[in-house]
Amino acid sequence: MISSYLVSRVLASAIVISVLLSITSCSSLKRQDVVRFVLIADPQMGFSDARAYRNTNNNNTYSTYSTYSKEDLDYFRLTIDKINKLNTPGEFVLILGDMVHKQSDEVYQWPDYHGALNALNIPYHEVMGNHDGWNANGLLRWRDTWQKQDVYSITHRGVFFIGLNSYFLKRPNDVPSETAAQKHFITTELRNNAANPHKFIFQHFPLYLDSPDEAEDGNRNLPIAERNFMLEQIETYRVKAVFNGHTHYEIVRDYKGTLLLSANPSSETLGKGSRGFYTVEYNKTTQALSYRFIENTQADLDAFRLEP
Ligand SMILES: [Fe+2]
Repeated sequence: MISSYLVSRVLASAIVISVLLSITSCSSLKRQDVVRFVLIADPQMGFSDARAYRNTNNNNTYSTYSTYSKEDLDYFRLTIDKINKLNTPGEFVLILGDMVHKQSDEVYQWPDYHGALNALNIPYHEVMGNHDGWNANGLLRWRDTWQKQDVYSITHRGVFFIGLNSYFLKRPNDVPSETAAQKHFITTELRNNAANPHKFIFQHFPLYLDSPDEAEDGNRNLPIAERNFMLEQIETYRVKAVFNGHTHYEIVRDYKGTLLLSANPSSETLGKGSRGFYTVEYNKTTQALSYRFIENTQADLDAFRLEP
């Protein structure tokens, strides 16, 4: 006959195990609620050389430089190495355009970019920058030669992302049919995902630098009509954040609750930026969004270059 003492011991153990399982299950649920990803802006093979050429020649054109030091390649390789070694790994990477400086360089810059990218241990999603395809030929190269998507959406563990080709927003008159198609895509995708509170957009160009109603400033921000279209979509569908590159220094803005993050570059800065990349955490339960910039210093690069 089983003693009542034994029964109570068994019951007590069962309760302890049950509580432990419940705690484990809760913490694993909490872990599952957080989506972690990485941002890389402007890896831009060859940009350092173009900048150096411009600075030494005291002129305003990058077009005639001819050296290629692989400085930006090495910083990109360092970025990828650090991403692969993150203590809390990211689940994927968003690459925010300007993979190369000279879009037509299929001998050095594109192969170097793709070669470095092969070492990345997690998936990635790219959007086209102005240096990757700033004309019809560049667009064809992006789509046909490199077989890259340029306007698309992805859903990762319930979190919805739209990747855009902001060339069509920056220069809406170059290929009007593409601009119209992209706008239709944005509206349709956001409407179809209206019930999903976890929505993000990534593209190359910033919507604006300082103020939503600032004038278009050369190559630095979007034209007002296309910017207003984007701002209206973002507000209507409560997009959590827009991530972009292009500026080569960090700009953080809040547009009616939407984070607008212009990211520091992996490649050369423009005086006030820092080289590096970002880790992003998004908690689906609380909808809390946080990000961290991880800098790549010259000392980091020197040490990385000495690694076997
Ligand atoms: Fe760039």
